[in-house]
Amino acid sequence: MVTPLILDCDPGHDDALAILLAVADPAVDLLAVTTVAGNQTVDKCTVNARRVLSLAGVSEVPVARGADRPLVRRLRIADDVHGTTGLDGPAFTGEPSVPESPHSAHELLVDVLRSRPATIVATGALTNVARLLAEEPSLARNITEIVWMGGSTDRGNIAPLAEANACVDPEAADLVVRSGVPFTMCGLNVTHQALVTDDVLARLERIGTPLARVCGEWMTFFASTYRDLFGFEAPPLHDPVAVARVIDPAIVHCVEANLVIETKGEWTAGATVVDLDGYTGRPPNARIALTLDREAFWNRVVTAITALG
Ligand code: BDR
Ligand code: CA
Repeated sequence: MVTPLILDCDPGHDDALAILLAVADPAVDLLAVTTVAGNQTVDKCTVNARRVLSLAGVSEVPVARGADRPLVRRLRIADDVHGTTGLDGPAFTGEPSVPESPHSAHELLVDVLRSRPATIVATGALTNVARLLAEEPSLARNITEIVWMGGSTDRGNIAPLAEANACVDPEAADLVVRSGVPFTMCGLNVTHQALVTDDVLARLERIGTPLARVCGEWMTFFASTYRDLFGFEAPPLHDPVAVARVIDPAIVHCVEANLVIETKGEWTAGATVVDLDGYTGRPPNARIALTLDREAFWNRVVTAITALG
């Protein structure tokens, strides 16, 4: 069974590989890419999404620009991690060949979901998805599931208790989690199992195509910021983990638990409060990813990049 998919993202190095995985893996049918401000401004993230699809030679997937800021807070970008372009590493000249859709992300999401059910994989702040659910609540029934790279069952990466995608727009994440649409959280606790180690880099190099070379250069840049900022020996490839969960749920093992998003905390806004031990007595409302089948994950990523030629 092929799962129809919409990818809402803020490319971003790991978003870039999430796009490639979603476009090339035969288990999913990528219907649209929508962008949101996060890793960089939405202008830059939109150019980057177009760039990734252009490099992959994919022109039939529309790319639409979404929210340029969170619902209520000021935008905080992650140029320290992703650079001034949002996708630093290899230098590109000229415009990507894939055009931007004349429609906004909101219009495209509405259009696609009016015509058919689809799963949304979100790999940035949940601003676009929250707006969709707030303004078009009847479309919720056509969202099979929202699978989000965001949050953490443990500590954060932009604040002591908050992960970046959650912290950029906690109000949006709160609205989405409370919407009742089936929700899966792939947080740092699982994405930190997807480290781009030297053997992964070697596998990319062995593919030998121009696209794989660009991926290697992106990963080398990403590795340098993760080393300098966080002391990681290898960077975690967060976003493709959420796509992999849709491709084959067995790759990303989840449990059901209650999840709430902290929006009021003076020091903890954006914390994802996951009640794995049932302390609160609140019923499960989300699937929480805990463990990654690393071998199956990297096989899917490498196969996808190879398939794109
Ligand atoms: C998330 O934040 C961004 O920097 C990455 O693209 C990923 O979606 C990890 O915290
Ligand atoms: Ca992202």
